[in-house]
Amino acid sequence: KILILDFGSQVTQLIARRVREAHVYSEVHPCDVTDEWVREYAKDGHLKGVILSGSHASVYEVDDRAPQAVFELGIPVLGICYGMQTMAQQLGGKVEGGSHREFGYAEVRARGHTELLKGIEDFHTPEGHGMLKVWMSHGDKVTELPPGFKLMASTPSCPIAGMADEARHFYGVQFHPEVTHTIQGAAMLQRFVREICGATPDWIMKDHIDEAVARIREQVGDEEVILGLSGGVDSSVAAALIHRAIGDQLTCVFVDHGLLRLNEGQMVMDMFAGKLHAKVVHVDASDQFLGHLKGVSDPEQKRKIIGREFVEVFKAEAAKLTASGASKNGAKWLAQGTIYPDVIESGGAKSKKAVVIKSHHNVGGLPEQLGLKLLEPLRDLFKDEVRELGVALGLPHDMVYRHPFPGPGLGVRILGEVKKEYADLLRAADAIFIEELRSTVEPHSGKTWYDLTSQTFTVFLPVKSVGVMGDGRTYDYVVALRAVQTSDFMTADWAELPYSLLKKVSSRIINEVRGINRVTYDVSSKPPATIEWE
Ligand code: XMP
Repeated sequence: KILILDFGSQVTQLIARRVREAHVYSEVHPCDVTDEWVREYAKDGHLKGVILSGSHASVYEVDDRAPQAVFELGIPVLGICYGMQTMAQQLGGKVEGGSHREFGYAEVRARGHTELLKGIEDFHTPEGHGMLKVWMSHGDKVTELPPGFKLMASTPSCPIAGMADEARHFYGVQFHPEVTHTIQGAAMLQRFVREICGATPDWIMKDHIDEAVARIREQVGDEEVILGLSGGVDSSVAAALIHRAIGDQLTCVFVDHGLLRLNEGQMVMDMFAGKLHAKVVHVDASDQFLGHLKGVSDPEQKRKIIGREFVEVFKAEAAKLTASGASKNGAKWLAQGTIYPDVIESGGAKSKKAVVIKSHHNVGGLPEQLGLKLLEPLRDLFKDEVRELGVALGLPHDMVYRHPFPGPGLGVRILGEVKKEYADLLRAADAIFIEELRSTVEPHSGKTWYDLTSQTFTVFLPVKSVGVMGDGRTYDYVVALRAVQTSDFMTADWAELPYSLLKKVSSRIINEVRGINRVTYDVSSKPPATIEWE
């Protein structure tokens, strides 16, 4: 295994991820573990190498150092950014504060033939120097190599951008191989863990499940856990994983606010209560939600009400389950499907909106209010890894590869006041759209249009337009279809769905959903439009 010591960089988990992608097992631990801890950790001989992460701080601002024992184990060590600087300083080199911060894309000249970079390059200069396209983010830099080290890489502004002591297998890079902007980064990390450390590439998702299951059992012991199941990917995978670990010690609470998609509640119950035999409390709170939404048409107001009611309903259910008598002693843990990007978001890296969105989604603040401990078994994983885990746990592909669905649900897809009548029409129309997207294959890629788009849905417009059906005149509602392609949801393009698909969806909706006589397609990109209509 590989030990990653975390000096507090926002991208440390990306190192772990790249190591996982090389199918090597790794663990992330804080950088301030003691020498004894390190020696104990390495004792059984399974530890093959250590990676020191970057930090957001400067070696002058903080006194985080790698435990010296790391350099005395006789195994390879790779220092990244701050990790390289502290390595240089601890081994007798020199680090100085840079006069300016270097941040972003850089071209690095790979010097000499080090085992780490041999044969890895992006292009050649006319003089025949091997060059790497990398991502840099640092203020300080190493100005003097420690004894035994040679220069491995350099840029004009950072003459020591990489260093190597090949006798001891110590390497340092000032750039970040873990981010995808460093084109050869994954190759470098793979070379380090597999070839230089000699770690066996035998780590697969099944192992991750076994480890996660063991960790949950150890954490929770014989105590009970509650989890708010939304039917979304993250909470579903968390539920399946925790259920695998502790079975009936887990109770899922599924709050149905009446603004879910067609048959969604039934699907969640069939899967979790039916197939997995998990304990699921299904709370049908649709009347309560719709009651509070009556007469309210302002989008933010609607969001607030839905968010508030959700917390209320969940709290009431949780209170029943945490009270002694409900079970042996009452639940002690609240489980959440927090994933790594959420952890970064709440660190303040992303916009405030993102934080707010997630705090609603993950019922923020609740663990404290309920006096519960927090269990977050997906905290270290990225979305695509969560999906892979879900499939490995036996969840259906369609559930795990679902488009995102906002917490307030159809509440923000029915413009203006929310009424049950509108929600029912919207559900029926939306189900047709999604069904057609899932069954129409784009011939070049062989993928369905559902898989080729990032988010697709139908919006209910509470306006009536005139139509003609058979011999009669109709005067019915309008829906808009929305399909976007995006990788980050911050910007998005409307999808160029084939006319034949739009035609079929439109005619099916108008023929099959009594009450809708007109279908439009939304051709606005984000920005300036948003993905949702409210
Ligand atoms: P917009 O409409 O802002 O949406 O372009 C970006 C992404 O965020 C989702 N979204 C929400 N998710 N609660 C959520 O949990 C919300 O209030 C909310 N509003 C928007 C939206 O579906 C899209 O994926």
